[in-house]
Amino acid sequence: MRKVAFINEKGGTCKTTLCVNMGAWLAAQRGRRVLICDLDTQGHAGKSLGLDVRGMTPTVRDWLDGAAPFEAVVRRTPVPGLELVPSNKGLSGFTVAAAADPARADRLRRRLAELPAGRYDLVLLDCPPSLSLLTENALRAATELVVPVALTYLALDGAAEILESLAALVEAHGEAPRVSLVVPALYRKTQLADEILEKLRERFPQELAGTALSWAVKIDEAQSHGMTIFEYAPASPAARMLGALADELDRRAPAG
Ligand SMILES: Nc1ncnc2c1ncn2[C@@H]1O[C@H](COP(=O)(O)OP(=O)(O)OP(=O)(O)O)[C@@H](O)[C@H]1O
Ligand SMILES: [Mg+2]
Repeated sequence: MRKVAFINEKGGTCKTTLCVNMGAWLAAQRGRRVLICDLDTQGHAGKSLGLDVRGMTPTVRDWLDGAAPFEAVVRRTPVPGLELVPSNKGLSGFTVAAAADPARADRLRRRLAELPAGRYDLVLLDCPPSLSLLTENALRAATELVVPVALTYLALDGAAEILESLAALVEAHGEAPRVSLVVPALYRKTQLADEILEKLRERFPQELAGTALSWAVKIDEAQSHGMTIFEYAPASPAARMLGALADELDRRAPAG
């Protein structure tokens, strides 16, 4: 089971967009059994899939706390083969409530290890825009990372932070997830964007995705309708880009 965290501490870098749409494509086009686990109090993964997550219970918080079993927490989505562990504001108390638990950073890792063998091919973790206990849980649980980097002036900072966190993990635990894909996001053809893209290519020669996700209003529109791009505008350039990125992640599956 691949466990892929979509992570960048900067906000609004397309983490959720990529997580939800790549998960939907992998389920629909490759027949993968995909679980998305929303780790953000904003609950945007569920909202993007048309689920009303406000006030929903139980959620990822209850699962991490051991207060609800997985079967009570997991929800079907409109996309066959794609399931969701939803989140909402209730997750905000997690950090304080878990503070006394010495294994607090391993809660998600342990819960994922308890899933029935063979139930999912991929678990995608939609991370919040911060370095918090939840991000720490994602980094400890994931075997791979997708790092979307918006091509704006400060964008490289977030990517640099991730590399620092990975180095700290290796130091502390002797292991860390590998970076499977660095995705240039919100691309617009400007000199600055191309310069940042070049820097990313230097820093991540192997990991940089072959497709950049351009700025496309259809993506925002799809989310506002609670639909994936493949339901909302299947023939659009945005759908082609997100499909190509999902295909790239599929092809970069670790051997074995
Ligand atoms: N390629 C794109 N073109 C235009 N708008 C986009 C694109 N990708 C995402 N968006 C919009 O930008 C906003 C932020 O995207 P998204 O929620 O995926 O980012 P995020 O990294 O998950 O944000 P957060 O850090 O808050 O979790 C959303 O409103 C989304 O619809
Ligand atoms: Mg998000």
